[in-house]
Amino acid sequence: MSDHLFAPLRLGELTLPNRIVMPPMTRARAADGEVPTDMMAQYYQQRASAGLIISEGTQINRQGQGYAWTPGIYTAEQIEGWRKVTAAVHRAGGRIFAQLWHVGRLSHFSLQPSGQAPVAPSALVADGVQVFIDPQSLGATHGTHGDGQKVQHSPPRALATAEVGILVRDFAAAAESALTAGFDGVELHGANGYLINQFLDSGSNHRTDIYGGSLRNRLRFLEEVAHAVATVVGPERVGVRLSPLITAQGTTDATPESTYLAAARLLDKLGIGYLHIAEADWDDAPLMPATFKEALRQIYSGVMIYSGHYDRSRADEALALGWTDLVGFGRPFIANPDLPRRLQLGASLNTGNPALYFGGSAQGYIDYPYLDDVLG
Ligand SMILES: Cc1cc2nc3c(=O)[nH]c(=O)nc-3n(C[C@H](O)[C@H](O)[C@H](O)COP(=O)(O)O)c2cc1C
Repeated sequence: MSDHLFAPLRLGELTLPNRIVMPPMTRARAADGEVPTDMMAQYYQQRASAGLIISEGTQINRQGQGYAWTPGIYTAEQIEGWRKVTAAVHRAGGRIFAQLWHVGRLSHFSLQPSGQAPVAPSALVADGVQVFIDPQSLGATHGTHGDGQKVQHSPPRALATAEVGILVRDFAAAAESALTAGFDGVELHGANGYLINQFLDSGSNHRTDIYGGSLRNRLRFLEEVAHAVATVVGPERVGVRLSPLITAQGTTDATPESTYLAAARLLDKLGIGYLHIAEADWDDAPLMPATFKEALRQIYSGVMIYSGHYDRSRADEALALGWTDLVGFGRPFIANPDLPRRLQLGASLNTGNPALYFGGSAQGYIDYPYLDDVLG
C-alpha cells in the first residue's frame, strides 16, 4: 500500500496531517433547543486524529431543520454548545469545519416554526422520502429521547423571491456564528436532496424567477450563498458538498454532468477552499464515470474530497489516480474513533450498529473501542 493517505496537505491556513476526512454525519443527539452537548464534544474529540472533521449537518435556522434532535447554529446556547465541541477537538490536536444545513422541503410541519409547511424552490413533493420526528411532537405520551418515528416529509410551499435573499443572509449569519463557536471553517450542504440541491436540480426547481429555469438561474442560489459565506469567513475557509448523481432523497437533474461541472466552475471562480463530492448516500451509490471525475479535477483548482464507500485500497487508488486530495470515510469513522491509526496499521475495523446511528444515548456513539482497548 502506498503512503498517499498519510501525506500532509495544506487547506488554506491549516495543515492536515493526513488525507482522511470524517465526513458530516447526523447523529441526532442534541439536547432541548437543538443544543450540542458535552457527549457530542466527547464523540468528536475521540475522532480528532482525522485530517479534517466535518460536523454533522447543523441547521442555519429553525426552518432548516428536517429531523428530530439535530443541532442548530442560530442561538447563543447552540453556539456555546458548539464552542465546547471545537475546543475539545482542538485540545486533541484536530481540525473541524461546521456543515451548514437547510433541509428545504425534507422536513415535517411538526418541526417547523408554528407548524407551518416546509419551504422549497417549488411546491413539489418528493414521494416516499421520509424524515424522522419526535412522536411526542404529535401528541404521543410515551417514548424516550432518540426514539424517532419515520414519516413522509410534509408538502412544501414555494419560497417567494424576497425570502431567498433572507436565506442567503441566514447562511452568512450561521457562518459567522460558526467562527464564533471556534470552527476552522464551514461546509455548505449542497448535497443529498436538501435545499441547495433542490435549487440546483431541474427536477426540483420549476421556478420562473431569477432562481429557476435556465442553468444559470438554478446555480444562482448556490452562488449567492457561497459568495456571502466566503465574504464572512474568507473563501479558503469555505467548502461545498455536492452530490451530482445521488437521487435517493428525491432530487434529479436532467443533465447532471453539465449542471455540476458548471457548479464546479463557479466555485472555482469564487476561490472556495474545497469541493466535497458525495458519491454515495447509504446504498444509493451510482457509479461516477472516470471522465466526470477527471473533468471536475480539470475545472476546479482547489482541494477535492470524495466520500462514499471508501476503504483503504479504493482511497489509495483515487489518490494515486489524482482525482482527489482527501477521502471521506463515513460509517467506518462512526465505529472506529481511531480510524487513521487502524488504516495505517492495516488493523481490523469495528463494525457499526446502524440501529444506534440516529438518536439515543452514549451507546453506539462514544463507546466504540480503540485499538489499544482491543489489544489490551
Ligand atoms: C448516520 C449517517 C448520517 C449522515 N448524515 C449526513 C449529514 O448530516 N450530512 C451529509 O452531507 N451527509 C451525511 N451522511 C452521508 C455521509 O457523509 C457519507 O457521505 C455516507 O455515509 C457515505 O460514506 P461511507 O460509505 O463512507 O459511510 C450521513 C451518513 C450516515 C451513515
